[in-house]
Amino acid sequence: MTKFHILTLFPEMILHGLGSSIIGRAAGKGIISLNAVNIRDYTLDRHGKVDDYPYGGGAGMLMQAQPVYDAHRAVTGGAAVRTIYVTPQGTPFTQRMAEDFAREEELVFLCGHYEGIDERALEKVVTDQVSIGDYVLTGGELPAMVMIDAIARLIPGVLGNDSSAEEESFYNDLLEYPQYSRPEEWMGTRVPEVLLSGNHSKVAAWRLEQSRQRTAGRRPDLYAKYQKKQQLIKRLSAQKRNNIHMMESLSRGRADILYTDYRLNETAVLLYDRGCRIAMMTALDRETCESLADLLPAETEMVLVSEAFARDILLKRQYAVFGEFSQMLYTRRETLPVKHKDIRQLTMDDFAYVHKWYGDGTKGPGTDEDYVRERISAGAMFGAFVDGRQVGFVGMHDEGSLGMLFVEDFFRGRGIAASLEAYAVNRMLERGWTPYGHVAVGNTVSERLQERLGFYKAEKSFWWLEKVLANRV
Ligand code: ADE
Repeated sequence: MTKFHILTLFPEMILHGLGSSIIGRAAGKGIISLNAVNIRDYTLDRHGKVDDYPYGGGAGMLMQAQPVYDAHRAVTGGAAVRTIYVTPQGTPFTQRMAEDFAREEELVFLCGHYEGIDERALEKVVTDQVSIGDYVLTGGELPAMVMIDAIARLIPGVLGNDSSAEEESFYNDLLEYPQYSRPEEWMGTRVPEVLLSGNHSKVAAWRLEQSRQRTAGRRPDLYAKYQKKQQLIKRLSAQKRNNIHMMESLSRGRADILYTDYRLNETAVLLYDRGCRIAMMTALDRETCESLADLLPAETEMVLVSEAFARDILLKRQYAVFGEFSQMLYTRRETLPVKHKDIRQLTMDDFAYVHKWYGDGTKGPGTDEDYVRERISAGAMFGAFVDGRQVGFVGMHDEGSLGMLFVEDFFRGRGIAASLEAYAVNRMLERGWTPYGHVAVGNTVSERLQERLGFYKAEKSFWWLEKVLANRV
């Protein structure tokens, strides 16, 4: 459960604003909690005063440090909890920041009033200063509510429908396309014919074109970003087998381009997926690779490279080899037959089974609890069942590759693994993705299974590297 604490002089404003509709329902179901705390309850002033004049003069009153600091201590118990001060002087709030905050288990929002808050309290408790736009409101409650709404709807389970948070404005740098509902004709205007055609690929193409036109007209800044990504995808496609991981990360709207050199014809590319803190890099020579490694964000947890010298450069920089892999991709558009029929998307009720059997290759089964939990709640895991009992699973990793395949010994040799893979491939094709995955070098059984399904292998070898924490070096 994600906990939101809101430190404010007007707690009832927060509870009225967020207590109903989708966010209110999520709080009612216990998926999130909303704890609005009245800062005034913490003042040591006998008359309940929380503000005073600013030293040096100037208009208005300032919220004093003591009640703010004590209210903060009361909700955090002194623990380091991400604390957001909402202020017009902050960094402008974006969907990216919402995604980042949505990964926290607990957040404190500090709402100012009057002319602001004594700087000493801010220095002690605040980790992020955020603004909702270049205009000034009378207090921080509305901005805090705006941010909480944007963050909470990204938390699994808050929106009923899993995919609705994905295909919408600001996903993939394009604004959403226009939408229509009944009747077919209203005040003389008909719904565009293509939407009535039932032809899914034509509908998708029309929507993409509408999104492009809309974005180009209304948000040229976003459109420039989109075009840059499309250009890079096109160039990477000259070596599709070696580059599919980067192409998919870009086209699914996950990666940011941290570096690419157009003069070098994309022989130097650094992508970073903020959502899962994974970087992907490729470079033709050591020198370029060194400079790409310099650009890796400090929070990077894993890096995927496709050259041995890139691996060696990262080994000198706090990274350790997680494994060597073959990259396999499925380039056809047709869906695959699924022989074993009893396969479905997993829910948290299936967690214990996956947790028991899933091992990420180095740590062995039963160790990756948080990752399994996160993958199931992202709707990215599918299970196979025999007579109602689960016997295996497959999943999509957070950076987008297909993997996590497992079938219990006793049930092997019945085509269940192939069916699980085929099922996952089909789910990815439905979304317009190109399925790809990484098979550990030496795992010929898995490689053959993929080849039988129609996967091709990239010429290059791939290494996953993981950041080694300083205290483990
Ligand atoms: N407080 C007052 N105006 C604000 C804004 N635009 N963003 C965040 N906090 C605020």
